Amino acid sequence: MTFPKLSSRAILAPMAGVTDIAFRALARKFGAGLTYTEFVSSAAIVRENKTTLRMTQIDSSEKPVGVQLFGSNVQEVVQAAKIVAERFDIIDLNCGCPAYKVIKTGAGSDMLKNPELIGKLVSKIVGAVDKAVTVKIRSGIDEQQINALEVAKIVEDAGASAITIHARTAEQGYADEADWELIKKIKESVNIPVIGNGDIHRPEIFEQRLKESGVDYIMIGRAAMTNPYIFKQIEDYSKTEVYQKVDKTKIFQEYLELAEKHKIPFLAVKHHAVQFSKGIKSGSTFRTNLMRCHDIECLKKLFSYFP
Ligand SMILES: Cc1cc2nc3c(=O)[nH]c(=O)nc-3n(C[C@H](O)[C@H](O)[C@H](O)COP(=O)(O)O)c2cc1C
Repeated sequence: MTFPKLSSRAILAPMAGVTDIAFRALARKFGAGLTYTEFVSSAAIVRENKTTLRMTQIDSSEKPVGVQLFGSNVQEVVQAAKIVAERFDIIDLNCGCPAYKVIKTGAGSDMLKNPELIGKLVSKIVGAVDKAVTVKIRSGIDEQQINALEVAKIVEDAGASAITIHARTAEQGYADEADWELIKKIKESVNIPVIGNGDIHRPEIFEQRLKESGVDYIMIGRAAMTNPYIFKQIEDYSKTEVYQKVDKTKIFQEYLELAEKHKIPFLAVKHHAVQFSKGIKSGSTFRTNLMRCHDIECLKKLFSYFP
């Protein structure tokens, strides 16, 4: 199955606790070419855990759309993929999460210690579902074990339709800069689409990385979390080399509408409000006031005074 052709080179990164259905719909509205669910546990899907299954609901604007699974048990991951495949165009395997609760089960970035297992998982999922299968990796486990290139070739041979590289090791977390030279090398070494990821905070950097690395697509995480309008800014900049400043009040209102439509819990809405307020003048005072809010009306009121 080939990777779908996307309407934009910019993809929203999967982010646990951030990329809920309403947030993804907002990113689509601003032009993200593809959205993925946050990572979901294969074991929980197989157990039909209701909270987890809710994370796999999608908005009608999400076309194409991917689901990200984590798990290291081949049978379980394949079964989970089969359960959710009908609603998704892409099944992504998380091989990059360094969180302890994930790696202690042998999943996420721990799988980079065992590239053969990643290859086996990919080929089994490819054989079980009629959808594009992608893999998201980090550079490696640590500085001594940088094996993204090897892993990329293995997943390509196993039948993956594309690969995403967040070019930091699991040990690095978010320290240092993402290694775009490594991403470039991977792009030059495989024939499937490569999605580069790491530290894209502005349209100018997006364009620069796209050109220098030659990647097919770029995934954006933290910058989109605080400014989902970045997808529109990227589109405008690529056409005209200028873009408009984000209006955070408007962004929050638009998110609220989608959050109400999709019945997003208040605490998650508040979390987004905090994220959207990053980078504004007097942001910390604003956030202190935000923390005192216990309902949507309070959040709305605060955003209406936004500087
Ligand atoms: C709050 C948060 C949650 C994340 N959750 C996931 C996740 O569920 N799955 C995943 O593959 N990566 C996850 N990531 C990593 C991002 O997808 C991305 O790879 C990383 O943030 C680097 O991209 P950036 O520099 O554009 O932020 C998460 C990142 C953040 C900040």
